[in-house]
Amino acid sequence: MLRMLKRLDGLSHGMGGVTTEWPLPARVVIVCFLFAVGLGFISALVNMHFQEASPGNLLPDAKDVVRAYHGTLGKSQLERLLTEPESLPFNGSGSMRAAFTEKKGSGFKAEMKAIAAKKVLDLSNPAEAAKAKALALKDREGERLALLSWIRSGAPEATYDEVGFELKGDLAKLPISKEYIVQGEDGTVKVHLQAIIHDRCCRCHSDGVGGPASRYSLEKFEDLKDYLSVEAPQGKSLDHLALTTHIHLLAFSILYGLTGILFSLTGWPIWIRILIAPAALIFSVMDISFWWLARIDPPYGPMFAQWIMVSGGLVGLSLGAQIVLGSFGLFRWRGKIVIAAIMGIGALIGLGAWHWVVDPYLAKQAVVAIETAE
Ligand code: HEC
Repeated sequence: MLRMLKRLDGLSHGMGGVTTEWPLPARVVIVCFLFAVGLGFISALVNMHFQEASPGNLLPDAKDVVRAYHGTLGKSQLERLLTEPESLPFNGSGSMRAAFTEKKGSGFKAEMKAIAAKKVLDLSNPAEAAKAKALALKDREGERLALLSWIRSGAPEATYDEVGFELKGDLAKLPISKEYIVQGEDGTVKVHLQAIIHDRCCRCHSDGVGGPASRYSLEKFEDLKDYLSVEAPQGKSLDHLALTTHIHLLAFSILYGLTGILFSLTGWPIWIRILIAPAALIFSVMDISFWWLARIDPPYGPMFAQWIMVSGGLVGLSLGAQIVLGSFGLFRWRGKIVIAAIMGIGALIGLGAWHWVVDPYLAKQAVVAIETAE
C-alpha cells in the first residue's frame, strides 16, 4: 500500500522538488501566510464565541449548537428569540429580548424621560433614574408578553394589525404604552402588535436601513410568518443558511485548498501528506452538511447539530496540522529552530492572554448571566 502510494507520488521521484528547496523569500511568504491563516482561525473562534456561545462558555456547547441549528422543540423561532435570556448572543441563534430593554431598545432614553416628566422624577438622581428605568422596562415587558400571547394563540393574521389582538385576564392589566392599546367599546383591551414590531424591531429589520438585520425584514405579516412555524425546523432560517453556506463554501475552499496544496508539497512522508492535505476541505464540507442535516426532525436533527462540534473541531485540527507541520516542512533544521521559537513565543502570548484576559472575562460573563436571568 505504502509502496503504491510512493509510486503514485510525484515528489519522491524528484518531480519539482520539495518545498525546502524553494527560494527562501517564497518560503518566508508562505510561512507568513500560514501564520496569518492561523490567526484568522483564532479570530473565527472569537467570532463564534460572540455569535453562538452561552455567556461564560468559550465556545458553543451541545445545548448552544442544538438551539442554534435545530431550534427548541415546539417553539417557533420567533417565540424562542423572545423567550431565551437576554444574555445570549443578540442574533438569530441567541435572543432578541434585548430589543425590549435599554440594551437595544429604540427610544428607551426618550421613554425614560417621558416617564420621568409624568411622575416628576429627577433623572440626575440615581435612585429616581432607576425608578424611571424600571417603569420603562415594565412597559416594554408588557409589549413582549402581549406579543408572546399572540404567538402562542397561533399568531392569527386577522388580529395582527390595527384591529388589535385581545388581551384577556391578567394580560389586560399589562402596563403597555397607550399608543399600542386599542380600547374596545365593550371594555375589551386590544393591542396593536404590528406597531410594536415596527417600533421595536424594524429599526434594524427593514429593507434599506443597512446592517446585517436589514436582510431579514419584519415589516409585513408575511415576513414574520417565516419565523412563526412550529413544525418546520426552528434553528437557523433558510435565508440565513443559504447565505452563510455559499459564503463559507466559496471562501473556505480557496483557503483550505491553498493550505492543503502547500502542505502536499512538503517533504513529510506520503501517508501523512495524503491524509492531512485534503482534510480541512473534506471536514468543512462535512461541517456545512451537518448545518443542513440539523434541520431534520428529532432525534436525528439534534444529533447532527451536535456533530457540528465534531466536524468543526476536525476542521480546526486539520488546519492546525497543516499550519504547524507545513511551516516546519518548509525549512531545514536551522529554519525549523526559528519556526519553533516563533511558535513558542506565540504559545506563551496565547497562555498569557488566556490567564489574564479570557479566563477572567468568561468568569465575569457567567456571573452577569446568572444575575440577569429570571
Ligand atoms: C438593534 C438591531 C436589532 C433590533 C432592534 C432587532 N433585531 Fe433581530 N436581529 C438583529 C441582528 C443583527 C440579527 C442577526 C442577523 C444576521 O444573522 O446576520 C437579527 C436576527 C433576527 C432574526 C433571525 C433572522 C434570520 O433569518 O436569521 C429574527 C427572527 C429576529 N432578529 C427578530 C427580531 C424581532 C422580533 C425583533 C423585535 C422584537 C428584533 N429582531 C429586533 C438585530 C436587531
